[in-house]
Amino acid sequence: MLNEKWHKLGGIDDFKVPSLREITINNTPIALSYQNGEFGAISNICNHVGGPLGQGRLDGDYIVCPWHNWKFHRTKGSGEPGFEQDKVPQYELKIENGILYINTESITSRHKTPHPPHPLARKVKREEGKIRVVGISTTIMDSENPRYSTSDKLLEVAINHAKKELGAETLLIKLNDLKFRACEGYYSKSAAACTWPCSITQMDETDQLAQVYEALIHWGDVIIVSTPLRWGAASSLYYKMAERMNCIQNQVTIADKVLIQNKVAAFIITGGQDNIQDVAGHMLGFFAELGFAFPPFPYIAHSRGWSAEDMENNMDYVKNSSDLKDGAKDLVKRSMEMSEIILGRKISKEKITHPGRKAQSLHVEKK
Ligand code: FES
Repeated sequence: MLNEKWHKLGGIDDFKVPSLREITINNTPIALSYQNGEFGAISNICNHVGGPLGQGRLDGDYIVCPWHNWKFHRTKGSGEPGFEQDKVPQYELKIENGILYINTESITSRHKTPHPPHPLARKVKREEGKIRVVGISTTIMDSENPRYSTSDKLLEVAINHAKKELGAETLLIKLNDLKFRACEGYYSKSAAACTWPCSITQMDETDQLAQVYEALIHWGDVIIVSTPLRWGAASSLYYKMAERMNCIQNQVTIADKVLIQNKVAAFIITGGQDNIQDVAGHMLGFFAELGFAFPPFPYIAHSRGWSAEDMENNMDYVKNSSDLKDGAKDLVKRSMEMSEIILGRKISKEKITHPGRKAQSLHVEKK
């Protein structure tokens, strides 16, 4: 007679295909596998952040977690070679008269080997010091044969002004110079699979978006993002970065953890054709969801308009426009003042210079 700890699963032929599945017996989630004539049963819960191992895939004798690819031996539960001590519980199986049984009292216990936390995972704490301004350029170009970029130019003006005239510490990051992977949709597997730090950042130390995370989350007080207009939208590099920031917003949802606090964002948007307000609206909405505050008139922008095709003139216009440069300077000044306010410091009451659309002289045709 069977002991009560054994649970009948069913005929063995019913559990051979698919070769990996998840089952729950007495509230115990199990990854059940079958390969080379042998069944295996281990906990369905991955040691990393709880991914469902039974929804993964087999790689030889290992189950590959579907969330971030950690591997566990499909019958023993031990981690892959080099991580053998990282174990998930193993369960006993037996076959009697063609029927598969499982014992849900595990025969080994879970053991998590401490993994050193990623440096980005440290507590967010503002270090004392001057206001720190980060410029993020999102324009794309052949960096070996660079071209003049109007959005880059105005960002440079803003950052230099912050450093030389306003006494800020500054950092300029050009996404074009960084090698980083596009978001691979961990959130689409499960909200819990989209981790902080970003799953890609944790798995791939060559991924250079870590520099942007470091600047946004830990170092900067003010973030100025510049983008060209591309077919009525921001640069594709901007979106590549923005998608990778899901992990920041997701922490609010899954862990009640706000990573962006007391930080200010502002934007520089330029291009040959129009749709500035739509692009600005997206950027404002997205950065607001991350937790950023904004200065009054949080962006400056310039375009030549829908019918303009004279891009050479567009470049000349920006090169020669003192209004746009003053607008960029005042944008960073307003942003730093907003940062002073939210950090509990004082502000100036000077007049705002060339904000928003008025970062240049407006054309008013008289009849
Ligand atoms: S690898 Fe399994 S949850 Fe991350």
